[in-house]
Amino acid sequence: MTDVIVGSVDEIPLGEGRTFAVDGAQIAVFRLRDGSLRAVDAVCPHKGGPLADGLSDDRVVVCPLHGHSFDLSSGVESAGAAMSVRSYPVAVSDGAIRINLRPV
Ligand code: FES
Repeated sequence: MTDVIVGSVDEIPLGEGRTFAVDGAQIAVFRLRDGSLRAVDAVCPHKGGPLADGLSDDRVVVCPLHGHSFDLSSGVESAGAAMSVRSYPVAVSDGAIRINLRPV
């Protein structure tokens, strides 16, 4: 599948995440403090929490509902790897966020 443009990078403040609807899926895109992006499934596999609303640093996001944390690059749960979300290649070109929907 080719890359899909989901929006403008300006929509995401540095250090935060936003959810984008892409091809029937919900994908959370995080803009790290160094300006790079990460993209993972937006719905927490525990009980459906909104991962884009969770606290994140340059490595992980913490689900706002019950605190499970997921690596932003691999999607794997940080403690114990009992759960994971899919992660996606994401890049910016000319200010547009491009996601490759084929999971990493
Ligand atoms: S729904 Fe995410 S930790 Fe429970």
